[in-house]
Amino acid sequence: MDNLIEVEGFAKTFRVGFWRRPSVGAKDIGFHVEPGEIFGFLGPNGAGKTTTIKAMLGLITPDAGRLRILGVPPQSMQWRQGVGYMPEHPTFYEFLTGREVVVWFGLLSGLNRTDAVSRAEKMLNRVGLGHALDRRLRGYSKGMLQRTGLATALVSDPKLLVLDEPMTGLDPIGRKEIRELILSLKDEGRTVFYSTHILPDIEMTCDRVAIIDKGVTRRTGRLQDILTETTRGIDVIIEDMAHGDRQQWIEKGVDIQPGDGKLVATFDDIEDARAFAQAAQAQGGHLMRFEPHRDDLESIFVRSLGQSS
Ligand SMILES: Nc1ncnc2c1ncn2[C@@H]1O[C@H](COP(=O)(O)OP(=O)(O)OP(=O)(O)O)[C@@H](O)[C@H]1O
Ligand SMILES: [Mg+2]
Repeated sequence: MDNLIEVEGFAKTFRVGFWRRPSVGAKDIGFHVEPGEIFGFLGPNGAGKTTTIKAMLGLITPDAGRLRILGVPPQSMQWRQGVGYMPEHPTFYEFLTGREVVVWFGLLSGLNRTDAVSRAEKMLNRVGLGHALDRRLRGYSKGMLQRTGLATALVSDPKLLVLDEPMTGLDPIGRKEIRELILSLKDEGRTVFYSTHILPDIEMTCDRVAIIDKGVTRRTGRLQDILTETTRGIDVIIEDMAHGDRQQWIEKGVDIQPGDGKLVATFDDIEDARAFAQAAQAQGGHLMRFEPHRDDLESIFVRSLGQSS
């Protein structure tokens, strides 16, 4: 199946104030979203996430670049039925109830009244607002408004969800619930694209990511590949190695640290580490652990942002 979102060379500069001073929203953003995946759009404040999302949905016109959503240009609006969108700061008319707002979005998306009413209730329950269906939004907390935004995105039964910072403003329990909701959307065969700067959420949910900063895509690819390609050294932990054998390895230049009845040998190269592990076992040592040092997403993220633009 074809990619659900394609963005290539997207650039947008806003003009602000009387002097129409330039404010760069995006310089060179590129990535694609495949069917059935959870895609994380990762970047610090001001990176250009919301600007890109708005362009993907035809809400702003790009200065440059090629954008496609569900295979068509954003301006065509032919994608509308298949996409659920939750904006960064969902604001609703506060005298309406949660149920009324979500029903209204359902009607706007083309559902008939019966379907809009039943799906609205189902989705509000799904996002954890079943207890507040008929309360006015005026009395909702920030987290409840965020969840209402999610319910409005879900009401039309879309195959692609575009969520701008769905976890921001939620407490840890709320974030966990939304993470689980996102995973369950994927289980149903939907595709989820969401932006965030919260790294643990990305690590727990995303198949692929794009890391953007200052309007430029710094990295894009499978999260697992990004996490493993930057392996830095391998520890081999051996127990019961004879003293003489240990000396022999040290003389060969292997960096060996004695531990509690075991020793830790560190290698830069995985083949050297494998050869050592095999030889040590042949000498009667017991292999306790073979441990590549992986960078976590945070250090990869910080390093990506350090690249010059
Ligand atoms: N309507 C606008 N007018 C002028 N400048 C804008 C406008 N929208 C965005 N920008 C600028 O574009 C840059 C990127 O903003 P954007 O909102 O896309 O960032 P973001 O990655 O979504 O950040 P955040 O994590 O804070 O939501 C910022 O420097 C911002 O000031
Ligand atoms: Mg934003």
